[in-house]
This record gives sequence, C-alpha cells and structure tokens, in this order.
Amino acid sequence: MKSLRLLPSPSAFRQCTTYARGFCPPCPILVTSRRCCSSSSVTTASPSESVDDVVTPWAVEAKGPKGIDYDRVLSQFKSERIDAEMLMRLEKVIAQRHQELGRGGAPPPLHPLIRRGMVFSHRDLNVVLDSLEKKQTVYLYTGRGPSAGTMHVGHMVPFLLTKYLQDVLGCPLVIQLTDDEKFLFRDIPLGPKMDAIVQSNLKDIIAFGFDPKRTFIFRNTAYMGEMYSTVLELQRCITTNAAKNTFGFVDTDCIGKVAFPATQAAPSFVSSFRNVLPIKSHNMRCLIPCAIDQDPFFVLTRNVSDRLKRPKPALLHTKFLPALKGATHKMSSSAESNGVVLLTDDLATIQRKLRKAFSGGGGTMEDLKNNGADLDTDVAYQFVRTFSADDALVASTGEGYRAGSLTSVDVKELAAKVLWDEILSHWQVRRAAITDETVTEFTSIRDILRASPSW
Ligand code: TYM
Repeated sequence: MKSLRLLPSPSAFRQCTTYARGFCPPCPILVTSRRCCSSSSVTTASPSESVDDVVTPWAVEAKGPKGIDYDRVLSQFKSERIDAEMLMRLEKVIAQRHQELGRGGAPPPLHPLIRRGMVFSHRDLNVVLDSLEKKQTVYLYTGRGPSAGTMHVGHMVPFLLTKYLQDVLGCPLVIQLTDDEKFLFRDIPLGPKMDAIVQSNLKDIIAFGFDPKRTFIFRNTAYMGEMYSTVLELQRCITTNAAKNTFGFVDTDCIGKVAFPATQAAPSFVSSFRNVLPIKSHNMRCLIPCAIDQDPFFVLTRNVSDRLKRPKPALLHTKFLPALKGATHKMSSSAESNGVVLLTDDLATIQRKLRKAFSGGGGTMEDLKNNGADLDTDVAYQFVRTFSADDALVASTGEGYRAGSLTSVDVKELAAKVLWDEILSHWQVRRAAITDETVTEFTSIRDILRASPSW
C-alpha cells in the first residue's frame, strides 16, 4: 500500500532526531518508529527516491497514477471525513442563517464543490456549526502566497468555496498574503517585483466577488505591526522542534523559515485583528477554508491554542485540482511544466491547453469503446466536475465517458467551455473593473464586524 509523507502532528515526530527535509524514506509516516530513528539515510532522501505521496505546503506529488490517495490523507493527517450527516447539518445551518439574514425564497443549496466531495475533510466543523446555531459570530480566514503575478485555476477552488461561505453565512473574512513566505522560501525579492505581484494578486482575489464591507485583505510585511503581539505569543509556544518536525526544516535553514509558521498561524486568532474584528474577548471562532496542503500550519496552531487560551481554528479542506499533465501533481505555478490554466487565459488558450491534458480515455478509440474512460485520472473530466454548477451535465458526462460513448476530445472541449462560460469569463469581467482604489478599500484597516450581521 502507498504511504503518505508528512503526518502533520508534531507529537508524532517527537523522538525523531534524524527527520529532516526530504523526509524519512524508510518510514516516512511514522518517523518515530525505530527504523526511522536508527536509519542512516534519512537526511539524504530526495523526493525522486521516494515511493510515497508527498503532501506539504511546498510540494504535492502523488506516486500512483490515480493521484493523491485522499483516504490515506484522512487517516494520516487524522482529520475528519465530511460525511453525509455533516452535509445535512451544514445544509440545515445554512437554511437557518438564510432565515436570520432575512433573505427571501428557498435557502441556497450546498455548493457543488461541497456536494461532489471536492471539500472532503475538516477539523471541528461541528464546533463551528454549534456556534452558528447559537448565533455566535464566526469569521473566515484564508490566504495566498504571492509567488506569481497571475493566479491559476487551482487557486480558484478554496477561493470559490470561501466566497460561497461568506455569502451564505454572512461572515466577516480576512485574507492573508504571505509575501514574507515567498521572500523566505522562493527568494522573490521584497521591492518593486513583489509589490507588483501582490497588487496583481489582490485584484485577482477581489475579483472573486467578496463583500467589500465584510472583507479585509492584508500582506504580511505591511500588516505585521497590528498582529505582531499575536505572532509573538505563538512564537513563544511553538518549539523549534515542532516546526522542524512538521515542516522538515534543517539546521542550515535560515531562522526566518523556522519562524514563518507563527505568522501564518496568527490570523487564526481574533487578537490579530484588534481594529478589524474589534471584540474584547478572544472567543470568536475562526474557520479556515484551504486545500489540504496548508493543514500542517494549522495543526501546529491548534496544538498550542489551549495554552494560549484561544479557540482552536476549524478547517475545511479541499482536494487539489490536478495539473494538466495528470493527477500525479497538483496544479501549481511553480511547476508550469506540468501544465497550468491561468485566470487570465482566454477561451482559445484554455482549449489549446486542455487539448494536451492527460486523458483517462485510453490510448485508442477501440480502448475507449471497450473499457470506457478512467474518470479519476482524466483531467478534463475533473475540470467539468469541479467547475460546473450543472449536476445533470456532470452526471451525463461521467456516464457517457465511462461507457465510451463520449470521446476524450468531446470532454476536453466541454471542460474548456464549462470553465470559460461558467467561471472565467465572469471572473475576467470583474477583474477588469478592479482599480487601485478598489484595492485600497479592501486593504484599509477598518471594522468589518460592524457590517456583518449581529446575531
Ligand atoms: P498558495 O498561494 O500556494 O495557494 C492559495 C490557496 O490555493 C490552494 N491551492 C490549491 N487548491 C486546489 N488545487 C490546487 N491545485 C491548488 N494549489 C493551491 C492552497 O491550498 C491555498 O488554500 N501559505 C499559503 C498562503 C496562506 C493561506 C493561509 C492559505 C496564508 N494563510 C490560510 C490558506 C489558508 C500559500 O502559499 O498558498
């Protein structure tokens, strides 16, 4: 059976002194096992030598052709599966909020990303739903590491989910841009180049349609003064060992890298937002939508929350949108060679890129007719499933393709059309209308709680 590297639980690694960047090849999951700690080759492993899936904030790579084994992720990360019961409860709370917000008509259905299992895992969602049922305010927190001027359609997944949650729950939202992370981990110089990337990403994010009255977006190097006391509290609680064991830092890494996790952790606590979410108590709960690669930051955060007497942040995890070259890689701007669709691509470019996407449709028409398509590995089908709001279309495409009556070319054309018609064409219109003034509106330090409905 495949195993998954990185179990983001510092306690699981406590006794492993040899565990380091590159991970432990003999027992990458339970690095506390004797083999790991007695192994002489642990520090020399490179991703290419491993036989395991890699899921870290800085690298995602599946070894099997079917992509990341998400069942295995659930058991190794020890997060909770979003099951039918949780979906029903979420639907009920959304309906309750719909009434409380005084909105007419039928309550909104669950988002397709949720009902189709793209949002597959959580931590403490039930606790957040308890709070919402008691009419307590919950805030949303998500983020982006500004590594390239244009975001790709993989990044859309958590942002579409966050936009939906803000709409249906009426929550305030904070969005962190980790320019410090990209300076420390990607060597992007702070200065005009980073400023341009950040400004462009800010506009990209705003174009998802977040509510300007309830949304605050900040870049770390500009906002640090406001949240520094919370960062410091976290830095005092998170040991170097815990950071090393969770992220694989080594002694030659600069101290900026080792300290960074506290900065991504800090917005999980309302004390980072004295002027943005101005409440006296520390009790306001935070819900973080993100892809599963970001989970290790928040496991670390949750592990020290009790000591800081703060509520543990809750999480909603999404799966990854695959790279065009196939499900073995997530779509990623740092691996352009694996194939990305950018948010700025036009329909013709998307069609051209998707024509080259990995197909689960078999080698020949004969294969397809006899065996049908493998929907799990087919990138174009994954696009349709991720981006179409039309359940009937997704079902008929899946059935037809699996039965071999639709060809790979048909599904690639459909995927391009769905992405363009349903998502990107609208996003690009909104993006074109965003000015520097709009950015100033979203990034100015102001009370966003006032605009959020009080329960
Ligand atoms: P970044 O910029 O790598 O990614 C931004 C968000 O997009 C998710 N993501 C994907 N989701 C689905 N399919 C993909 N192919 C894909 N690629 C990326 C990421 O999980 C993330 O949710 N350190 C973070 C920035 C950050 C953050 C946060 C993210 C700061 N605070 C809080 C989430 C929540 C980063 O570099 O994300």
